[in-house]
Amino acid sequence: MTRNILIYDTTLRDGEQAPGCSMNLDEKLSVARQLELLGVDVIEAGFAISSPGDFESVQRIAATIKDCSVSSLARSLPKDIDVAWEAVQKAVNPRIHLFLATSKVHMQYKLRMSEADVVSTASRMVAHAKRYCSNVQFSCEDATRSEREFLALVLGEAIKAGATTVNIPDTVGYATPEEMSDLIIWLREHVVGIDNVAISVHCHNDLGMAVANTLAGVRGGAAQVECTINGIGERAGNAALEEVAMALKTRADHFDASIALDTTKIYHTSKLVYSLIGQGVPLNKAIVGTNAFLHESGIHQHGVMAKRSTYEIMTPEQIGIFQNNMVLGKHSGRHAVEDRLKELGYRLSPDELNTCFEAFKVICDKKKSVSDSDLEAIVNTGSAAVLAVASGAPVALASGMSVNSETSKSYLLQNFDVHSGKESTAVSVICLRHAGKDFEEVSLGDGPVDAAYNAIAKIMGLKNVQLASYTIHSTSDGTDALGEVVVKLRCEENLVTGRGLSTDIIEASILAYINAGNRLILKND
Ligand code: KIV
Ligand code: ZN
Repeated sequence: MTRNILIYDTTLRDGEQAPGCSMNLDEKLSVARQLELLGVDVIEAGFAISSPGDFESVQRIAATIKDCSVSSLARSLPKDIDVAWEAVQKAVNPRIHLFLATSKVHMQYKLRMSEADVVSTASRMVAHAKRYCSNVQFSCEDATRSEREFLALVLGEAIKAGATTVNIPDTVGYATPEEMSDLIIWLREHVVGIDNVAISVHCHNDLGMAVANTLAGVRGGAAQVECTINGIGERAGNAALEEVAMALKTRADHFDASIALDTTKIYHTSKLVYSLIGQGVPLNKAIVGTNAFLHESGIHQHGVMAKRSTYEIMTPEQIGIFQNNMVLGKHSGRHAVEDRLKELGYRLSPDELNTCFEAFKVICDKKKSVSDSDLEAIVNTGSAAVLAVASGAPVALASGMSVNSETSKSYLLQNFDVHSGKESTAVSVICLRHAGKDFEEVSLGDGPVDAAYNAIAKIMGLKNVQLASYTIHSTSDGTDALGEVVVKLRCEENLVTGRGLSTDIIEASILAYINAGNRLILKND
């Protein structure tokens, strides 16, 4: 009989903890809302005890999300479990996810615990979690490198103590697909009580087999798959949700399984996550890559024109890419822009639409045609910063979109002059307007961006601020392409994101830094 496979999304926990993937509270909330629209079954919102910021975001997500279960990770320690419960208890369907390593190397060198201690801790801690919550998931960290008999013993004790889901992580991405399916089949035969709980698989991508291993787990009998959007996660990442989902859907015949996901939300969700972490979509990324549905060779084009299924095993529409032959440019009206944004998955308020449309018009003066990626960058950038410079006059626009919110306290770029050369030290002159007055600073730097950032930091009084990440990518091809810069600034506990968009990449870099600085000032107010 066809089984329904549950999708457990850990983008906001295992994904977000990877270098370069940090998100702030607002960003995590927007991802959680999008995951709810996508229809995942469980959102792992974070690791509540790991920091006050994580606690707050798990708590906010738990209180906001209605259509998915919300889970927090916890080590097998009473305090972790107490805090995880405190964070998720307001969820419609809360889950506590606790873990304990079961491989020899982890037990001996990391935990310094004997096998007997691990068995009894697993049992006691599941029972502890169970006092709070009926929905308890227990993971044997490094399960695929654990001795099978011992793994079966620990899992059996966890089930006896009340675990409702048992997760089998391939923590270091070591397993092969054959081993993974074989392990799940073996556990189903040897773990006491396993028929009464859901088996989950959680695979890392160190050898590039995370998706294959996850699917092999399903073949072996797993009822839940743990994934992240775009496969972000520790080291080489986790199993990519969009790949696992589309494999299960496209090859439902092979897996004899179904998923409850609305796959037409995949593309938008993927773009959102890439945009929030400041990465461009890799060209050849399966399912969501720019080239995923392009056919370049003549033979392929001919085949697809005769019958799409010659070279297409799924359609772009299935993941939410709706082809549109209309070119947006100078002569396009507000309705055309609004319609295209709707097709791309954006629902904007009238004010947000106005802001975007103004930015769109400004960009049309610089570019002949505005692509979908340009349009998405306009929305993600919140548009205000683009307009502030591109129109030549400062525009303070509040935007409820994903990022920007310029206020009367914001600094706005008035002018910049940046010089750099092979034999000379980079120098910048930056002029910002704040509360009706202009402020100018000159700074040197290790390159044009550094010089500009030094001057901006002086004007805005940004002290003890660390540039946690800087990314730049072009939203389309051609030398007139828009450069989208995303910077993350860290100041003590606060992590803020700033964005800038311009056909001039120095300008985009400057706008992104000012945008982030304004957000930091707003937070510290
Ligand atoms: O990879 C892993 O083992 C984990 C566990 C905490 C589930 O992320
Ligand atoms: Zn993991």
